[in-house]
Amino acid sequence: MRKQTRYREIDKRIITEGEELDFSLYSANDTKDAVYLFFKSGTPIDGNLKVTLRSIEKLYIDENDYASYQNYLNSHLQHIASRNDISTEEKAAIVYEKATEVMNQMFHDPEALGNVQAIQPLVGGFIDIVLHDRGAVESLMQITAHDYYTHTHSINVSIYTISLGSFLGISGDELTTLGTAAVLHDIGKSKVNYKIINKNGRLNDEEFEEMKRHPAEGHAIALALGITDQRILSGIRHHHERLSGGGYPDDIKGVKISKFARIIGVCDVFDALSTKRSYKNPMSSFEALSLMKREFKEHLDMNMVNSFIKMLQKQEREK
Ligand SMILES: [Fe+2]
Repeated sequence: MRKQTRYREIDKRIITEGEELDFSLYSANDTKDAVYLFFKSGTPIDGNLKVTLRSIEKLYIDENDYASYQNYLNSHLQHIASRNDISTEEKAAIVYEKATEVMNQMFHDPEALGNVQAIQPLVGGFIDIVLHDRGAVESLMQITAHDYYTHTHSINVSIYTISLGSFLGISGDELTTLGTAAVLHDIGKSKVNYKIINKNGRLNDEEFEEMKRHPAEGHAIALALGITDQRILSGIRHHHERLSGGGYPDDIKGVKISKFARIIGVCDVFDALSTKRSYKNPMSSFEALSLMKREFKEHLDMNMVNSFIKMLQKQEREK
């Protein structure tokens, strides 16, 4: 028997039949004070193991195998998202949890190529869920973080952006590109003083000026990562531009603001209003959208705000 502290709990629903894992699986005794080897790495997973897994409450991996486990998860995320034997809620929870971890790392080390590569399966996973599961956005909205953190905000905006983009008729590679732009839209915040990012309250003028650097910083990070797609670059750089001017960093107007930037801009404001901050309570979807229609006429593309409302109504009907 070995001490449980060396082990990390994993989600047993991700284990797929027919696969050969390059990490071992462990389970715990009843008192959960010790774990034991349950499945040795290198053995193909068969139906019997899948049945046994159902009777086990918790599944662990050795901490030393964490990188192998992450690789497995990255390559299976889209498969998990497309499975019919897992409920939408469960799939959404698995993909969201993984996304939280990837985005944490992304903000910690934004220039690492491995991090940006890990984004693709996440975006693919969200697209699969949004396109194929009825009422998926509702399920995803249940689990989206209700407290505001930059990395979870990026995930929430990506989910809303994929849903709105799809509702607007965007599909295939373009939808993947849009989702990627949305995940990365605030990556420049990794270059803004963390005390300002984590401030418990509203920003003063000087702090806000510092915060306003993030779209251009994000654009620079994307270029450094080798991203050349103008739709992604503009989505990152121009998500705080305003339709009638006065936004930042370039103060451009109207259709000069790309479609991707306008879609992300709407979803960004919606998530900011509907999550909790230290200085304000979260608004309901209805309150957030009413406020956006009332007070963001100069700022946001109202056709897209209206489409966002219709998209949510459609989701509601499908539930
Ligand atoms: Fe932003």
